[in-house]
Amino acid sequence: MGYWVVYSSDMGILDRVRNFFKQEAVPEAAADYYDLFAGRIVPTLYSGFMDAVAQNMESGRILDVGTGPGYVPVEIAKRNDRLYVDGIDLTKKFITIAERNAREAGVSDRVHFEAGDATKTRFEDDSYDMVISTGAMHHWMHPEKVIDEMCRVLRPGGEAWILDPNKECTKDEFAEFLKEIIKLSGAGFFGRLWLRFGIRWEIRVDCYSRAEIEAMAGASRFSGCSIQTDGVFMIIRLKKE
Ligand SMILES: C[S@@+](CC[C@H](N)C(=O)[O-])C[C@H]1O[C@@H](n2cnc3c(N)ncnc32)[C@H](O)[C@@H]1O
Repeated sequence: MGYWVVYSSDMGILDRVRNFFKQEAVPEAAADYYDLFAGRIVPTLYSGFMDAVAQNMESGRILDVGTGPGYVPVEIAKRNDRLYVDGIDLTKKFITIAERNAREAGVSDRVHFEAGDATKTRFEDDSYDMVISTGAMHHWMHPEKVIDEMCRVLRPGGEAWILDPNKECTKDEFAEFLKEIIKLSGAGFFGRLWLRFGIRWEIRVDCYSRAEIEAMAGASRFSGCSIQTDGVFMIIRLKKE
């Protein structure tokens, strides 16, 4: 939880409540459980996004921000053998899990994982051809800092693609999404309860609306922003001049 670090005197009561409950990193103790869940849903749920990333460039280097157990880098590397993908995450245990997932998929030579905070990475300016992130933006305590860091490490002319749920998705879109992740995850009774209420909370409270994203992008170092909605998700494309 964010506690005091995310409070400032100009915050409204709703922002304070939201940040109190917000979980930035996945707890180390929950990493194995999350891996099980992500391994069942990510390859299908994000397949369109991963296809588009893999086809966006013939070759090059990609950074995945908030990579979790690494399924997104692994799936992209499987789709295009001329892409190299690095993944960073705050949760250290995910790095070992992601390395194992890459080994099992036979792509360890083209994916690399390390622990790190996306607000201040060790990577050089202009060092990636593309930066991506899936399902992580609503966890960031300082999204504006992460977005500017994505821009710093991206080469001029490159794009950052962020996929995250849309706070303003409709009830029907949410119901459809819930049905799909319950089916993919094979969640039992308690898992279904968490998905139904926990994810609903995250979407309505932690996620952002199109207007909020546009305001963030406008205040960032990126020069352009386009947003596409796809069911419950928004795909945000940020362009560096
Ligand atoms: C819901 S998970 C998504 C994982 C993965 N991208 C996926 O789609 O399965 C969000 C991840 O973002 C990571 N995260 C949150 N804030 C971060 C930050 N500032 N720097 C690096 N990782 C961060 C969390 O630790 C968590 O593993």
